[in-house]
Amino acid sequence: MDADVVAGPPGPPWSRTAARDDRGVVTVGGVAVDALAGAHGTPLLVVDGDDLRARCRAFVAAFGPDAVVYASKAWCTTAVLQVVAAEGLLVDVASGGELATALAAGVDPARLVLHGNAKSAAELDRALEVGVGRIVVDAVEELDLLDGLARARGVRAPVLLRITPGIDAHTHAYVRTGHDDAKFGFTLSLGLADAALARALDLDGLELRGVHAHVGSQVVDPDAFVANAEVLVDLLARWRAEHDLELDDLDLGGGMGVAYAAGDPEPDVAALGAAVRAAVADRAAAHGLPLPRVLVEPGRAIVGPSALTLYRTVAVKDLPGLSRWVAVDGGMGDNIRPALYGAAHAVTLAGRAPVGPAGPVMLVGKHCESGDVLATGAPLPGDVAAGDLVAVATTGAYTESMASNYNRLPRPAAVLVEDGTVRPILRRETEEDLLRRDVPLP
Ligand code: LLP
Repeated sequence: MDADVVAGPPGPPWSRTAARDDRGVVTVGGVAVDALAGAHGTPLLVVDGDDLRARCRAFVAAFGPDAVVYASKAWCTTAVLQVVAAEGLLVDVASGGELATALAAGVDPARLVLHGNAKSAAELDRALEVGVGRIVVDAVEELDLLDGLARARGVRAPVLLRITPGIDAHTHAYVRTGHDDAKFGFTLSLGLADAALARALDLDGLELRGVHAHVGSQVVDPDAFVANAEVLVDLLARWRAEHDLELDDLDLGGGMGVAYAAGDPEPDVAALGAAVRAAVADRAAAHGLPLPRVLVEPGRAIVGPSALTLYRTVAVKDLPGLSRWVAVDGGMGDNIRPALYGAAHAVTLAGRAPVGPAGPVMLVGKHCESGDVLATGAPLPGDVAAGDLVAVATTGAYTESMASNYNRLPRPAAVLVEDGTVRPILRRETEEDLLRRDVPLP
């Protein structure tokens, strides 16, 4: 294990302002993590505000204003949505709860995109009530349901059809969505997209605005996004020829990958934007099609690398000839990704300078389950001991948003750190919160 890996920040996969101070303590936005842990406890999500804003700006610069839709499933909490909306992003919501959070954050409903493969009537009706700008329809039943709801309200629902484009993005099976036999969307190769269009054109309550396709998540190959764009432009051109139909919106979904380990390629957002926009322009010109409005829906690439999770070590166990186990005060409840996807997040000793050669250790949580592993082969130094602070990188996306209360552990707090200022954005859950929904028997 080389010394740089042990050292952790600065540099990817750690967020932009992450560094070490002269004591060797990790800092974010100029604030040392031992101070953060002291004031806010652990486990603690620490969001690097500069990093988050810079990521938003890079996407807007690459894809244009009003083209970038933050996929809030990555991390849907009021303050995060406030930051991304202030940076000019639209917001994708995939449930009534995400919609409620976006409204609480003050996001203009016209700048919301509603997703979901099994939306309820209540979710769709609420979207119509508040005036959500785009509803991405995923099923024939939904077309009919939405039409009825819209007509009852005397409005026309702004609809994008979710297409399954037949593109295999070569990512983890649980986050692949573009291949034909998928849970989401209308499979193009089987004629389902054409059938959905025909149905939609019959329904007066719907205003068809465009098409959408999402090829998968943690995709690092730009070709997958370009291929997706080309398939959708071809579809718009064919539909125009067959139905004399002009559709504006070409929503290419999200899925842009990020670096999880030092040395991982971090896809270049500017180059990706240029490649996708050029492909759309060329293909549209070849078909004589007016240039459609390109939308993208990054979640992970906006918020993933901007946060780290800070834990305190509780116990260290050496098994000679076997493994070294370091247990911390959180685990799979606050980060299910290693257990669910085999995700490898970078780890570093955070509360002091590492001494001596590093790991590898099994970094494990406090849940009653052997699969509660946060990192395999984590590079922690030989003198790691109970009470040390450990940081896990790239935890802004799909950690808090997928957190559970397994073992009735309260979910962590989060702070946003910017230019030396620390703002709590999520309070730590309490045992009272955990008991709030319980209905005792008399
Ligand atoms: N748009 C749609 C329609 C999506 O389904 C998703 C992600 C996104 C955008 C945003 O994708 P992103 O840019 O964040 O990759 N829990 C998994 C990821 C699941 C992604 C689900 N859909 C993980 O932790 O890796």
